[in-house]
Amino acid sequence: MSGQAGAADAENGEYLFKTICAACHSIEPDSHRTGPSLHKIWGHPAGKAEGFDYSAAFKGAAADELIWTEENLDKFLRRPRSVVKGNKMAYLGLRDDADRADLLAYLKRMSQ
Ligand code: HEC
Repeated sequence: MSGQAGAADAENGEYLFKTICAACHSIEPDSHRTGPSLHKIWGHPAGKAEGFDYSAAFKGAAADELIWTEENLDKFLRRPRSVVKGNKMAYLGLRDDADRADLLAYLKRMSQ
């Protein structure tokens, strides 16, 4: 379910986050699992969660000052390897455009 056409649905995004991403990520500040906390990830620099041991690939992205803009997050979630080559996020990507828009809407809401 992705709600009305054109309107991203943060509720479905929350459901997707809890069923897919929460296995490795928390949205709470400073709470790292296999992956870093995604607290306020929207609009923030990549690879900068305090206390998380990123891969060399992510440290490189941070050094290149990659920012999690809507465009970059969308590309990353569609195909994580396409944005940060060699990263260790063991997730192939969310190919469904409507689901990805919903997930982005949830991440944006949680970053405000
Ligand atoms: C199997 C575990 C796993 C799953 C599932 C997973 N991730 Fe990740 N994620 C990681 C790891 C590990 C990293 C850090 C990668 C590195 O250091 O190379 C990461 C990094 C990230 C980053 C970059 C964070 C930063 O601080 O720059 C974002 C954004 C992200 N994941 C979003 C998601 C979203 C949204 C989902 C659900 C669609 C998801 N991930 C699913 C493990 C996972």
